[in-house]
Amino acid sequence: MKVTVLGCGALGQLWLSAFFRHKHSVQGWLRVPKPFCTITVINQHGVENSFQLPANNRQRLADSELLLVTLKAWQVSKEVQELLPQLRSDCAILLMHNGLGTKEEFPELVQPLLLGTTTHAAYSEEGKIYHISAGITSIGPGNVPAKSVDQLSAVLHQVLPKVTWHNNIVASSWIKLAVNCVINPLSAIYECRNGELEYYTDEIEAICREVVIVMHYEGYYINYHLLLFYICQVIRSTSGNISSMLQDIRAKRLSEIDYINGYVLRRANAHGLRLPVNQRLFNIIKHKEQNYKY
Ligand code: NAP
Ligand code: PAF
Repeated sequence: MKVTVLGCGALGQLWLSAFFRHKHSVQGWLRVPKPFCTITVINQHGVENSFQLPANNRQRLADSELLLVTLKAWQVSKEVQELLPQLRSDCAILLMHNGLGTKEEFPELVQPLLLGTTTHAAYSEEGKIYHISAGITSIGPGNVPAKSVDQLSAVLHQVLPKVTWHNNIVASSWIKLAVNCVINPLSAIYECRNGELEYYTDEIEAICREVVIVMHYEGYYINYHLLLFYICQVIRSTSGNISSMLQDIRAKRLSEIDYINGYVLRRANAHGLRLPVNQRLFNIIKHKEQNYKY
C-alpha cells in the first residue's frame, strides 16, 4: 500500500516504522519539508531500529492510498486541508488523535474519512521514539465514502496489531474521550502520574457523571457505573504513565483540552446543558496555557 504519514512524532514514527518493516511504500510528511526523515524506534524489549524514509515527496503524496494523520488534534484540520487538493479522490484519510471535534472542522470530503483511536503508548526523547506499551487501535468511518473501506483495518492489523473495525466509531471514541476527560486534566492539574489519581475519587465521579449526561443527549447510552469502572481500570493499567496533557503542560505546549473537555462542553452547550466540573477543569488548563513563562 502507498502511504503518507502526516506528523512524524511519537505515534507517527511508530506507524512509519511498522509500515516500512511490512514492506509498504511509505513516506513521512514533515512540518519543515525535507527529502528524508530519520526514524528511530526503540521497542518494548529495548531493541533500537533506525532508518531513513522519503519525506515530503509530492508525487508520493499524489499516489498515496492512505494519508495517516498523527498530528495533535488542534493541528489536524488546517494541515489536512492544505494537502487535500493534492490527494487522489479515493485516498483514505485516517485521523488518529486524542479527543473529538476535528471531523466537524472539515467541509464534506470526496475522500473516505476515517476516525481512529489507539491505546498504544509511545513517547519521544532526544530524537528517539520509545514504544512503551502495545495497545489496540480502533478505526471506523467518519463519512459515507469511508463505509466501504473496512478492508483497511485488516491491512493495518498486519502492520501494527491489534486493529479493529467499528461501524459506529464515534460511540467508542466517546468512551476514550471520557477517559481523557478524567485522566488528562486531573493529572495535569495535580502534576501526578495517572496511578496517583485514585486519591481523587470524588472528582473522577463528578467528571464522569457529567460526561455520561452529554453522551446520553448525543444518543450514546452508557451506564455510569460501567464507564466509571472502565476509567478506573485505565487509571490502574496506565498507573506509571505521565499523561499526554501533563507532558504538554510541562513542555509549555498547547494541550488538546479544546478537543477533550472542551469538546464535551461544546456539545453540552448545544443541548442547553451546563457542566460546572468540566468547565472548571477546562478553565484551569486554559489558564496554565495562557500563563507559560519562557
Ligand atoms: P507528537 O509526538 O507531538 O507528534 C506530532 C508531530 O506532528 C510532531 O512531530 C510535530 O512536529 C508534527 N507536526 C506539527 N505540525 C505539523 C505540520 N504542520 N506538518 C507536519 N507535521 C507537523 O504527538 P504524538 O504523541 O505522536 O501524538 C499524536 C496524536 O496521537 C495526539 O492527538 C495524541 O494525543 C495521540 N496519541 C498519542 C499516543 C502516544 O502514545 N504518543 C497514544 C494515543 C494517542 P514538530 O515537533 O516539528 O512540530
Ligand atoms: O493522553 C494520554 O495520556 C492517554 O490517552 C491516557 C489513556 C490518558 C493514558 O495516559
